[in-house]
Amino acid sequence: MKIIAGNSNLPLSSDVGKYLQIDLAKATIRRFADEEVYVEIKENIRGEDVFVIESTSYPANDNLMELLVIIDALKRASAKRITAVLPYFGYARQDRKPGPRTPISAKLVANLISTAGADRVLTVDLHAEQIQGFFDIPTDNLFAGPVFSRDIKDQFDLSNLVAVSPDIGGVVRARAIASKFGASIAIVDKRRPKAGESEVMNIIGEVDGKDCIILDDIIDSAGTICNAADKLIEIGAKSVTAYVTHGVLSGKAISRIKDSKLKEVVITDTINNIENANELEKIRIIPISVLLGEAIRRISEESSVSSLFEF
Ligand code: R5P
Repeated sequence: MKIIAGNSNLPLSSDVGKYLQIDLAKATIRRFADEEVYVEIKENIRGEDVFVIESTSYPANDNLMELLVIIDALKRASAKRITAVLPYFGYARQDRKPGPRTPISAKLVANLISTAGADRVLTVDLHAEQIQGFFDIPTDNLFAGPVFSRDIKDQFDLSNLVAVSPDIGGVVRARAIASKFGASIAIVDKRRPKAGESEVMNIIGEVDGKDCIILDDIIDSAGTICNAADKLIEIGAKSVTAYVTHGVLSGKAISRIKDSKLKEVVITDTINNIENANELEKIRIIPISVLLGEAIRRISEESSVSSLFEF
């Protein structure tokens, strides 16, 4: 097995390598003066089972292009099997036509990855599970749920917990955590007047005096979780904590979280945003490298990945 690290998340790739007790494969991945991507794999990978770790996070297009060029280099170097490991799959939110004459970019990106030569995809908490079907190659979608639930167990009085979905789309995620702890769920009735803005209309469920845990896949502008926290506190919640897999944290996200009623925001390191997150004590990062590393090991050994999700 070989692991190639793209530039998007070197700390995570290196942690995965440590978990698997293998050195990252030697490769030069750089830019020409005009920003074209140049890749040179510096060791023999002929016949190898190769995992390329690259989050298509900010700068999304550069990282995506880098991933495609790395895959092409590997294919032409006769790798036996290439797995695109996307700890964060950017473009996932463009998974349907929101209006006439708009693209389904998640499908386009999935096509690009398989056309470049990937044989499999491994990712974490896809925005919508059915995006797996956009790839015509085997796709494993890992859940951060087990990682979060271990932390929740350590941090909370489980008898006073409510799992909150910040929108209708996240109900399954909230219900999984709620049933794990015998907690109830609440649902935020969220409206998006326009892209990048969110408004809370109502809260469905009982939260008075409860410790609320918002579960979501992405914090981008942080509008969703901050508005939800405001509303939950307004109607009597005792505390609000957010557990979110991908800390995109763009624009004013950090200052919004700082000024919000959120007690704490817990994210994973699928996106290399440690510097941003460290600006704020309220943000805590839980590493995902063991889950990812273990899934890579199992894929390589052709053993069960789904049993990792039993929690
Ligand atoms: C939306 O469906 C996603 O699950 C997230 O709730 C959303 O992307 C978060 O975006 P923001 O932080 O900008 O509100």
